[in-house]
Amino acid sequence: MSGIIEAKSLVKTYRRGREEIHALRNVDFHVNEGEFVSIIGPSGSGKTALLNVLGCLDSPTSGSLRLNGTETWGLKESKLVKVRRENIGFVFQQFYLMPTLTARENIELPLLFSKKNRNKSRIDDVLRMVGLSDRGDHLPSQLSGGEMQRVAIGRALINDPRIILADEPTGNLDSVTSQMIFELFRELNRKGLTMVIVTHNLDLARQAQKMYTLRDGQIVGCDDMACISGRSDIEVQQVAV
Ligand SMILES: Nc1ncnc2c1ncn2[C@@H]1O[C@H](COP(=O)(O)OP(=O)(O)O)[C@@H](O)[C@H]1O
Ligand SMILES: [Mg+2]
Repeated sequence: MSGIIEAKSLVKTYRRGREEIHALRNVDFHVNEGEFVSIIGPSGSGKTALLNVLGCLDSPTSGSLRLNGTETWGLKESKLVKVRRENIGFVFQQFYLMPTLTARENIELPLLFSKKNRNKSRIDDVLRMVGLSDRGDHLPSQLSGGEMQRVAIGRALINDPRIILADEPTGNLDSVTSQMIFELFRELNRKGLTMVIVTHNLDLARQAQKMYTLRDGQIVGCDDMACISGRSDIEVQQVAV
């Protein structure tokens, strides 16, 4: 089956002076449209490097990446920006909201850079989707951490992407709020969005359909959660990939 994300033999090597840092070593990664996958792994294992390459924020040293059927290797930056904008919404641990803009204005910010018109009803829809209908006029400083992350998720959704990539999105949130953010991701996934979530939190990671484990720049495990939760009689099974 062709996937919405098809990455083959991804290598990402950073150079620090004479030292080479192998952040990704030959990673194959395949996600079907509508899937909800999580990625876990120790600090420094390459999770951010992988997500940044999958989202075309960073180019791989070698390897190929097809997003929604488009090969991204060798694309000019302007074309890459288009592929990214049409397909990917990013969510980060630090929210990265503009402090002087309201929730509503932060959410509509990406529209400044795309050719889409500002459409009030679209922004209202997104505010509703992230559960912030009554917070649109608040500044980030007037919001809780969970609400700030909802604004950031709204900003990721405004251009109507196919895929959400989230890098430790609950890393700054308490466990109850983290669970609520995950519920929101699941709700968005039920609406058809493909979700790829990096998290340190095993309880959250296990709520995905598939959980990948990264170690030293390689995928060392893929747990099929649907299979596990449907068969309580079997142990969590490590499927070699
Ligand atoms: N810009 C960079 N320059 C040099 N090394 C980097 C850079 N970014 C990440 N690394 C290194 O690449 C490896 C993977 O990093 P990262 O993907 O951030 O890991 P994780 O997100 O799993 O904690 C680490 O060894 C990290 O130090
Ligand atoms: Mg990271």
